[in-house]
Amino acid sequence: MSVEGVIRVGIIGAGLIGQVHSRMLRLIADRTEQSVRVVAVADVVPSAAQALASRWQDARAVALAEEIIGDPAIDAVWICMPTAMHREVCIAAARAGKHIFCEKPLAMTTAHASEMAAAIESAGVLAQVGLVMRLSPAYTVIKSMFADPCVGRMLAIMMRDDQDFPTRGVHASAWRNDPSLTAGGTLIEHSVHDFDILRWMFGPIARVSCVTRNLNGANGVEDSGAIEMEFAGGFHGQLTSVWHRMLGRPSNRRLEVFAENLFVASDYDTLGPIVFQRGESADLETIEPDEVMRRFSEILLDERPYLAPMKDCFAIPYAIENAIFVAALKGECIPDPPFAAGVSVQAMVESAYESARTRRTVEIEN
Ligand SMILES: NC(=O)c1ccc[n+]([C@@H]2O[C@H](COP(=O)([O-])OP(=O)(O)OC[C@H]3O[C@@H](n4cnc5c(N)ncnc54)[C@H](O)[C@@H]3O)[C@@H](O)[C@H]2O)c1
Repeated sequence: MSVEGVIRVGIIGAGLIGQVHSRMLRLIADRTEQSVRVVAVADVVPSAAQALASRWQDARAVALAEEIIGDPAIDAVWICMPTAMHREVCIAAARAGKHIFCEKPLAMTTAHASEMAAAIESAGVLAQVGLVMRLSPAYTVIKSMFADPCVGRMLAIMMRDDQDFPTRGVHASAWRNDPSLTAGGTLIEHSVHDFDILRWMFGPIARVSCVTRNLNGANGVEDSGAIEMEFAGGFHGQLTSVWHRMLGRPSNRRLEVFAENLFVASDYDTLGPIVFQRGESADLETIEPDEVMRRFSEILLDERPYLAPMKDCFAIPYAIENAIFVAALKGECIPDPPFAAGVSVQAMVESAYESARTRRTVEIEN
């Protein structure tokens, strides 16, 4: 199932995230004897396809995803188009035997995401979902702090996630406010990461109740959501997700977690610092970003020694997620986060939407 020789990639969608993945693949190529190469870029906007393709020697710029999917010389595709277009391209790519990296959210609905997973399964291709926050150094270190049994029972989790309404600035993309192209608003387009990392860090979420509000978006594109989560472990959490109107404020998260003997908080979702207080201590201590990175590198290299060539890029979560999928294509590991994580997290967000609609608590199947 793995790819022999140089991995030939086609990027479908040359917008913000397509360009990010291209840059990450370049970092990987330069550290792994050019073991991966972008050979084609598809975008309905010819200048966008051309601009991205021109960053790779001899890469073709094409208008249609089909031209990439139908090219037998391409081993894997990176699906980076607006959410509504993922399903058709993903299923066609799987049937054509292409390995698939698909951006989150996988699709417009869980049912569609499940169809994509079934096509991948029956084609026997490798697939990974872009749930990149699992590669956050700060959150990986916080997860490891709560894995220590000395912290006692888990008590409560609070997260705030905020971002400028993503139709301008770096996210200058009208499709994010078009309900026929986006799966929803801030909960599915942005906080799908939060649902994923909260269950990745603290275990399954058993039920949710949610309220949403729509101030700036089109009908069906909520810009505020508050979710009460009950974890299967018996503790609770709250997530507040907001799209505001402050262009100068970068997308970021605050996380606060209590166990019986440990309080941890971080105001920066990638590098920290992390503050914590434990046991009987009266002092709030700080893990500075350098120490966050030292601990993260240790954890990452322990779990994934094949990432050693990427050590100088460990502060860039997008570089690591791409490096994991490239390693999976070489047969060195399995894709992680797996495609199935994208399906199950979509179902979780759908449960939150159902709760907002029905004003009831909704059980989540785990
Ligand atoms: N993991 C992350 O952190 C992250 C960040 C940003 C976006 N995303 C996801 O990535 C996807 C793309 O988002 P984006 O920010 O790059 O959007 P974008 O608008 O910047 O780029 C999308 C590109 O797809 C092109 N496109 C549209 N229809 C197409 C088609 N039929 N065939 C080929 N190309 C087509 C557009 O012309 C555009 O260039 C979305 O699903 C989004 O949710 C994930």
